[in-house]
Amino acid sequence: MGAARVLVTGSTGFLGPFVVAALRRRGFDVVTAARSGGDAAVDLAQRGSCAAVAEALAPDYVLHLAAMSRMADCAADPELAHRVNAELPGELAARFGDRMLFTSTDLVFDGRAGPYGERAATAPLSLYGVSKAAGEELVRQRGGRIARLPLLFGPDPRGRGASGMIRTALAGGRALTLYTNEYRTPLHAADAATGLAELVTLRAAPQVLHLPGPERCSRWEFGRRFCAAHGLDAALLCPVECQDATRPRDTALSGEWRAVRSLDAMLADG
Ligand SMILES: NC(=O)c1ccc[n+]([C@@H]2O[C@H](COP(=O)([O-])OP(=O)(O)OC[C@H]3O[C@@H](n4cnc5c(N)ncnc54)[C@H](OP(=O)(O)O)[C@@H]3O)[C@@H](O)[C@H]2O)c1
Repeated sequence: MGAARVLVTGSTGFLGPFVVAALRRRGFDVVTAARSGGDAAVDLAQRGSCAAVAEALAPDYVLHLAAMSRMADCAADPELAHRVNAELPGELAARFGDRMLFTSTDLVFDGRAGPYGERAATAPLSLYGVSKAAGEELVRQRGGRIARLPLLFGPDPRGRGASGMIRTALAGGRALTLYTNEYRTPLHAADAATGLAELVTLRAAPQVLHLPGPERCSRWEFGRRFCAAHGLDAALLCPVECQDATRPRDTALSGEWRAVRSLDAMLADG
């Protein structure tokens, strides 16, 4: 029998290339779907597209990364956010059951009672969080699996992710405001990808699993430590207290899964 085939949706996103590499290292036959640049070029928001992709690529497992992941985009078009972030994972779970893993977010929590374990009740504040929590619910009802991810960072040619944003701002001589009162458990995308690749075929895994980073820290502290690790001048980073009611203050995740590297080791590789 050949290697199990894993379909990665959203392979052109920030996390996608890390996940594809981690799966290939583990010997999986990886196929990808994205609006352009994947093995299947498909707009997954179109009805019927899931079935068409499933039939064309015939995967054994689906690692579903594709999402409308920017809070501002979701706030601007909540209907499309619901379609992409909720209905679409629901359709994949209906088809693949526990052979489907949906990547969700720490932003499904309201940030008033962090750190959050897997059993904590969701109470999203933003439309992004609302759409992902709705996706979780549909996936759960249909027997799919859910991995909640924290703030991700790591090298990216397009400057995406939490560290890419800092590098881009500093390289362009632009000031960047970083919240002193927004706490997360940041995780390097390569470590997140390793965790997700382990989970894909782990049949005894719990239905909902957290992949927390090694430490809880504020966005401001993250920025300072990232600059220190790379000898970057942090003078353009501006510490600001967040007043935005749609941004939860402390969505630190907890759970049994542990990253192998320390935050400092991850930051040095960011
Ligand atoms: N990055 C983080 O800090 C973070 C934290 C927690 C959870 N997550 C979750 O992790 C997953 C991956 O995040 P990411 O940072 O890699 O996101 P991203 O960079 O925004 O990438 C999103 C991916 O989804 C694809 N996509 C969006 N709409 C689509 C559609 N209608 N049809 C087909 N493909 C579509 C995009 O394709 P195009 O290239 O065509 O746009 C892209 O490949 C998401 O589910 C996100 O919610 C991310």
